[in-house]
Formats: sequence, structure tokens, C-alpha cells
Amino acid sequence: MGLFTKKPMHLLLNEAADSEKGLKRTLTAGSLVALGIGAIIGAGLFVRTAAAAAQNAGPSVTIGFIIAAIGCALAGLCYAELSSSIPISGSAYTYTYATMGELLAWIIGWDLVLEYAVGAATVGIAWSEYLNNLLVQVLHLKPIAYEWCHSPFEKSIPDAAGIIHTGFINLPALGIVTLLSLLLIKGTQESAFVNGLIVITKVSIVILIIVLGWGFIQTTNHTPYIPAQSIYTDHQGIDHSYGGILGILGAAGVVFFAFIGFDAVSTAAQETKNPKTAMPIGILGSLAVCTVLYILFAHVLTGIAPVEFFRTDGREASVVAAINTFMPNYAWLGKLVTVAILAGFSSVILVMLLGQSRVFYSMSRDGLLPKAFSVLHPKFNTPYKANLIILILVGGFAAFVPGDIVGDMTSIGTLFAFILVCAAVIILRKTNPELKREFKTPLVPLVPILGIIVCSAMIYGLGWTNWLRLFGWLAIGFVIYFGYSKNKSHLRDK
Ligand code: ALA
Repeated sequence: MGLFTKKPMHLLLNEAADSEKGLKRTLTAGSLVALGIGAIIGAGLFVRTAAAAAQNAGPSVTIGFIIAAIGCALAGLCYAELSSSIPISGSAYTYTYATMGELLAWIIGWDLVLEYAVGAATVGIAWSEYLNNLLVQVLHLKPIAYEWCHSPFEKSIPDAAGIIHTGFINLPALGIVTLLSLLLIKGTQESAFVNGLIVITKVSIVILIIVLGWGFIQTTNHTPYIPAQSIYTDHQGIDHSYGGILGILGAAGVVFFAFIGFDAVSTAAQETKNPKTAMPIGILGSLAVCTVLYILFAHVLTGIAPVEFFRTDGREASVVAAINTFMPNYAWLGKLVTVAILAGFSSVILVMLLGQSRVFYSMSRDGLLPKAFSVLHPKFNTPYKANLIILILVGGFAAFVPGDIVGDMTSIGTLFAFILVCAAVIILRKTNPELKREFKTPLVPLVPILGIIVCSAMIYGLGWTNWLRLFGWLAIGFVIYFGYSKNKSHLRDK
């Protein structure tokens, strides 16, 4: 048995049948759309949009959103086919194990850590930014000192006295990640009711900002809409490719983060009534709703404040900063957004931590990770050891790495996973043509190939520092695979 050993389809389908026991088909297309939106709207919109405008594209960040949405829609159609033919937890990792063999499955499983664990850290850091708003503007307390809510690799812009502060540890981000991990160990199941409530709150807030902010758009802030290509050096001395096509592609890669989570819909295939039509409606529907909201939101945000603002005073908690500075008499809106978004971010972090523990669980069941990752708690019946190890990993990123870096690492890791999912559809059609597919991706191989091209373009736009980070991450993965997993794989005993 070699590196390209594939997990036999009958084994997978048996596992799927086992896991299917007890699950009822209750979800409709409408509930899938709500599920998707609940997992999607978060730090991407409320933090990364302003960062992409400041560092990459100015107002043309809206075009970046369109490119990111196209890439997600194409990959989403591929996700839907795989999840309806291999309906089992583990997501892209499991699909790859069945189609491209063990080594690539390992790579994708390792890469998904970037999507889920590093993604959770990114949203935790965003949570920390908005916590300071809550303390100062809503509760009228003192803010947390810069040193205690930033990574050691971050420097502030000079304060009123001209002092530049350096971060030490991001305690609030570490705190929220710890709290939610403990909640997960206790076995919290976000009820459909709570999820529904959070979805309604998030969507209402976004619509409110679009409608109320529209009147404050200044055409000068939108001129030129696509800035000329140049290099922007930020206050920490880091160069960014700003403006032109390259800027738009970079912005697409950055705001791609805002769409992450829609793939969660595909994992609910077994619980869906009539998945053939409900799945594509669920995936594409939640994407479509978010895309329209995102474009309008980005148009308003870059219209009410100049790019320079997002590079200086509005760098953090950017949306509320812009409301407070450029929309006089709307301080109540800033407060409302702060409270709602802290709750909204928490639900996204929870979904990501849960997703990470599912992937580790599947990898451990296959022998590629130690048994500890799949041991269940005797009382709570949750993979508590996995959750604790994930807490250390996510907590480490949240406490010590800047939000921009973890955000872009999440984007590049997820884009890479999407490329492999697109390729898996083409391969599976050839190797297992007889497999029962409840939903079929249209126009194969055109749709998957276009998905690969658009996602690759965004990876290109993210620039060489992020390519290096992805390679570095994968290199660590190779060391673990060849040092441990290869010899422990259960498939080798079969
Ligand atoms: N899409 C999620 C967010 O923006 C991950 O927070």
C-alpha cells in the first residue's frame, strides 16, 4: 500500500450509513440558507473589508467581493456533489481520501486547520477589537491597554502624546476562544432558534448600515473607483500591492474570508429533505444573499470614509469607527452594531471550532492522528481532548499573531482546499461513475476547472508572503505525515 492508497468507497458508505442512523431529514432549502448565512457573516465583513480597501483596492473592494463570490459559487457546486454522494463528516478531507489517496487527504486535512483553527483565531482577534468599543462607548469604561490586546508583532500608530505602543499578548482573543472551547466540551448545541435569532440580527444590522449609511456616501471617496496601481507601505513598514487589477485580486483573496463557512451547508446533506434541489438552493442561495449584502455594504463603507481613515484611526473596529466619525447623530447605531457583532462573532467562532474538531476526529479515526483526538468525554460525549489541543493551537494564534496575517492564512488555506475539492469532482466522475449522486455539479469538467482557475487567481493576488506561509505550513504537515501518520494509518492494516 502506497502514499496514494484510497479509502475504498464501500468503507466510506458504511461509515456514512452508520452515522446516518438517527438523523432525520428535516432541513428544507430555506433552513439551509439560514444555516449558511449564520456561518458566513462575521469578521470578514466587519474587519477584513476595511483592511482590503486600505491595503489593496480602495472602493474597488466591491469588485473583489464579486470575484470571491464567483469562486465560491463554482467550488460550492462541487462541494454539493461530493457531500451528496459521500455524506459523512470530515468534509473535504474525506472526499479527498476517497478520490486522490492518503497523502493528498493528509495535505487537505492539515490544510483545513488553516480554514477552521486559524479562521477561529482571526474572528477571535476581531472580537477583541470590538470588545474595546463595548468597554469605551457602551459601558463607558477604560479601554484595555494596547499591549494586552495585540500580538507582539504589532505596533500602534502614534497616540495623542506621540507614543507608539507595541503589543505583547491579545488577552481578550485568547479569553473568548477559551470560553467557547469549554462550552463546546460541555456539549453545547446551538439550537435552531438561537441560530435563527443570530441570523436575523446579523442581516438586520447589515441592512441598517446600508440604508442609513447610503445618505452619507461622498462621491470624492469613490473617486477614482479603481485606484491606479502603486505600492502602499503601511505604518509597520509592510508593502502592499495597491490598486489596478492586482489590487482587486488581492482584495478578492482578503475578503474571500467573508464567504468562508458556506461549505458548512454541504455537511448537512444527510439531514436534508430532497437534497437534489435543496442543496444547490441552500449553498447558492446563502452565497447570493451574502454577496448582494456584501457589495452594497462595501460600497457604503468605502463611500462614507476615505481610504486614509482605514489606514489610520479607522484601522480597528473599522465599521463602528466609520459610523462614529462620519455619521453624526448615529452613535446609537455604533453601539447597536458593537453589541450585535460581538454575539455574531461568537457564533462564527463556535462553528469553526466545531468544524476543526470534526476534521481531527475523522483523521484520528483513520489513524492519521493519535487516538486522543477521537476519545469522547465519558459524561459529555464530546471529543474533549481534541477540543483542548485545538484550544492550545487556536489560542496561540489568537494571542500572538496579528489579525491580518491569520486572516490571509485562512483565506489561502481555504482556497487551496477548494481547488482540491474541484479536482476531486472530476476524478470521482472517472473513477466511480456508478456512484449514486443525489446532486450533480452541472457542466463537468467546465465548472470545476473554472473553480480551480478563479481560486488560483485569488491565491496569486494574496502575494508571495502568503504563498510562503502556505508552503511552510504544508512542510510542517509533511514532517508529521512521514514521521507519524504514514506508519499508523489504519488503511494499511486492511
Ligand atoms: N465568513 C466568516 C467571517 O467572516 C468566517 O467571519
